[in-house]
Amino acid sequence: MNFDQKAIIITGGGSGLGEATARTVAAAGGYPVILDLNEEKGQAIAEELNGLFFKTNVVKEEDVQLAINGAVEKYGSIQGVVNCAGLGTSTRVVGRKGVFPLDEFNFIIQVNLVGTFNVIRLAAAAMMTNETNDDGERGVIVNTASVAAFDGQIGQAAYSASKSGIVGMTLPIARDLASYGIRVMTIAPGIFDTPLMGKAPQELKEALGKQIPFPQRLGEATEFAHLVKAIFENPMLNGETIRLDGAIRMAPR
Ligand SMILES: NC(=O)c1ccc[n+]([C@@H]2O[C@H](COP(=O)([O-])OP(=O)(O)OC[C@H]3O[C@@H](n4cnc5c(N)ncnc54)[C@H](O)[C@@H]3O)[C@@H](O)[C@H]2O)c1
Repeated sequence: MNFDQKAIIITGGGSGLGEATARTVAAAGGYPVILDLNEEKGQAIAEELNGLFFKTNVVKEEDVQLAINGAVEKYGSIQGVVNCAGLGTSTRVVGRKGVFPLDEFNFIIQVNLVGTFNVIRLAAAAMMTNETNDDGERGVIVNTASVAAFDGQIGQAAYSASKSGIVGMTLPIARDLASYGIRVMTIAPGIFDTPLMGKAPQELKEALGKQIPFPQRLGEATEFAHLVKAIFENPMLNGETIRLDGAIRMAPR
């Protein structure tokens, strides 16, 4: 499936990897539909790209349903979803500040894992009645995990659990949606230079880059968007997680 004249839902499209994806969708003739908590940035990017913005908390059923309905109303249908909304914290199970707060653990699981699933299920329901393309496809879903799903670092118990949950549900959801012609893939990025990382000093970014076997630098958000586009375009990619990480394997800290 290509992006040409297709409406593609992009959660977290107001920043970083999601923003780069929205720009790639628009450059390829598609209509980015940005769902983000950040109204100011999300709205500005959607206007610039001639797409749509919906202030959305991905965890909230009514927010996501309203956004999908709005996109279908404007474009007739949606053909794809790229789940980029997410966040992380660094807290040890037991540390100097005490025991890991259960609320914090729950919050990370809710946004990263439950939020991703919430968008998948509601978008799949909207896409299952689409006309099929020449490959028999009705839609494509791409999720964002992290290499922390496999080699989580000290302090990443909640983040790693949320991201490995996304990796774990990729195959069963692909199997669930196969009969509708909807593919499901996940990307597990290594370390990417996004606003999430932007506040870090340049020396830290360079030090992190040196940990990557090759290329010895942080990933660019456009390189993530490039893989999203390749996944949409290749009908054989389904039910799998792809690491996009320059061969890094994270050390404990
Ligand atoms: N940058 C990296 O190095 C890296 C590495 C591995 C994985 N990731 C993952 O990639 C995804 C995007 O990361 P990024 O670096 O672009 O981060 P970012 O902070 O630049 O962008 C994330 C966006 O998600 C939005 N968001 C957060 N919670 C939300 C919610 N509940 N509902 C709707 N929107 C919400 C934010 O407002 C923000 O615009 C995240 O899931 C992150 O865990 C990033």
